[in-house]
Amino acid sequence: MGGEPRENILRLEFLNLPANIGVARNAIGTFAVQLPFTLNEIDEIRLAVSEAVTNAVVHAYPGDSGWVRVTAAFADGALELMVDDDGRGIADPAAARAATCTTDPERMGLGFSFMDSFMDQVEVRPGPSGRGTRVRMCKRPTRKDAEQVGDGDGPA
Ligand SMILES: Nc1ncnc2c1ncn2[C@@H]1O[C@H](COP(=O)(O)OP(=O)(O)O)[C@@H](O)[C@H]1O
Ligand SMILES: [Mg+2]
Repeated sequence: MGGEPRENILRLEFLNLPANIGVARNAIGTFAVQLPFTLNEIDEIRLAVSEAVTNAVVHAYPGDSGWVRVTAAFADGALELMVDDDGRGIADPAAARAATCTTDPERMGLGFSFMDSFMDQVEVRPGPSGRGTRVRMCKRPTRKDAEQVGDGDGPA
């Protein structure tokens, strides 16, 4: 069986301070090792979380403080991540997701491109309350043993 838990949920809530970006990255990276991700995949998850949380910290509440919430869950053997804020929201998510699109000339506008390349699925929507932004991302371990739970076959 490999001992991986089939269900687990972690919720983090923190203020939009840059110091918390690394906290979220480390917490989610540690949570994700319960699924059979490779080290490279864990790094990709860490980077995707960093980009989504950085956006909430940097863009959601210009000049103001506010809450950022990160939820990580195992769903059917895959990792589901949600990064939520109650901030100004994204008027045109499709445009914001395009490479090099940024509202801040100091930035490169590649955060969503990184999330897209590191995760299997990325959705950008208004937050559940109708305010702010929810970025939902999913990733499934690619290792064969992730899909073959309970079947004793080793590699040929
Ligand atoms: N949580 C958010 N709240 C409000 N606006 C956001 C949020 N996340 C992203 N954005 C908008 O989407 C744009 C693109 O994001 P991204 O691809 O990460 O590029 P960058 O952060 O370098 O500008 C940002 O410039 C910003 O205008
Ligand atoms: Mg960004």
